[in-house]
Amino acid sequence: MPEVRLENVTKKYGKIIAVKNVNLHVHDKEYFSLIGPSGCGKTTLLRLIAGLVQPDEGKIFIENKLVTHIPPEDRGIGFVFQTYALFPHMNAWDNVTYGPRVKAWEEEKRERIGREMLEMVKLYERADAVPKELSGGMMQRVALARALAADAKLLLLDEPLGALDAKIRFDLRYELRKLVKDLGLTAVHVTHDQGEAMAISDRIAVMKKGRILQVDTPQELYMKPQHVFVANFIGESNFLEGYIVETNDKGCVIELRGGVIVNVVNQTRNKGERVVLAVRPETLSIEKGHKKGLNCITGHIERFRFEGTDVRYEVRLKNEDVVVIVRPALMGEWFNEGEKVTACFPTDKSYLFTYPSLGLRSELALE
Ligand SMILES: Nc1ncnc2c1ncn2[C@@H]1O[C@H](COP(=O)(O)OP(=O)(O)O)[C@@H](O)[C@H]1O
Ligand SMILES: [Mg+2]
Repeated sequence: MPEVRLENVTKKYGKIIAVKNVNLHVHDKEYFSLIGPSGCGKTTLLRLIAGLVQPDEGKIFIENKLVTHIPPEDRGIGFVFQTYALFPHMNAWDNVTYGPRVKAWEEEKRERIGREMLEMVKLYERADAVPKELSGGMMQRVALARALAADAKLLLLDEPLGALDAKIRFDLRYELRKLVKDLGLTAVHVTHDQGEAMAISDRIAVMKKGRILQVDTPQELYMKPQHVFVANFIGESNFLEGYIVETNDKGCVIELRGGVIVNVVNQTRNKGERVVLAVRPETLSIEKGHKKGLNCITGHIERFRFEGTDVRYEVRLKNEDVVVIVRPALMGEWFNEGEKVTACFPTDKSYLFTYPSLGLRSELALE
């Protein structure tokens, strides 16, 4: 069964450490994603699993077999790239049955697999078409069928939907997941699109600068980010700097810039500790005029954006901190730029992080 394990894997390109001491366990039949900003080492990690590059240190296991020095063709994998790496002069049928031909399978088996795979991606009727006669989404489905035709149980996908139009990308992500689940495959999918990773994956590894910061289900990453970077990269967060001025049996009290006070529950911290308070834009509420109340801070609308489903406000608080607040466009009233408002912070849906030693900005940087 194709589970994948990496132990202390490091890959360097000259002075660049593309993958740094990575430990990872992808379970059998899991849809697993690697996500992170451009250049963080996702492709390198996938190519290490595929055997297309060799690690400088560490071990790689597939199905509990040490494969570190086994060539790609003997690892039982199918690989799908961002750009349609189809043979341009071959039609869809010949592309899909290429692996079976190279492996010299019997004709009957080749015919059966070719038909099954093309039917699976709903392109059997287009078996005679060459790549340039197919749309981007179709070509990617042929690439997927080809990757699977050689009997791969482990599917490695490097930004497979990255070159497609938004709507097709959206539909194809669900098709992709369904296919992997129906066939009982294990998939490792690289993307920089958090929405895609959230929708498609059982679990996600968030990477930054060659390291894995957190591995969890989409829900856990969103609800329980373990790093400031994750709270920013998965979903969106406002980050406010402050100090813990009081702790009690319920939680703690934070003093933000300008002496502004915010209470949070279910968080244990030490009095005097320097912290970052992370609050999701969709958990803040906004009220007309200047109001008093627990966790309510007065300010004004500095910026208003209508974004279709949501409206997005940037509210400058009285202490000069700016918070983003997102509200469903069809719920409640809208506010105008310059209008006096009160932003109310949730007590139970925000996170506290120890202030990063290198500063907040460097912790949040994508590169
Ligand atoms: N073949 C290569 N030669 C030299 N540097 C490379 C090579 N491939 C990747 N890198 C470097 O390794 C780092 C990680 O790259 P990559 O794995 O492609 O990141 P991602 O896929 O997350 O964008 C980057 O700094 C990149 O420039
Ligand atoms: Mg890449």
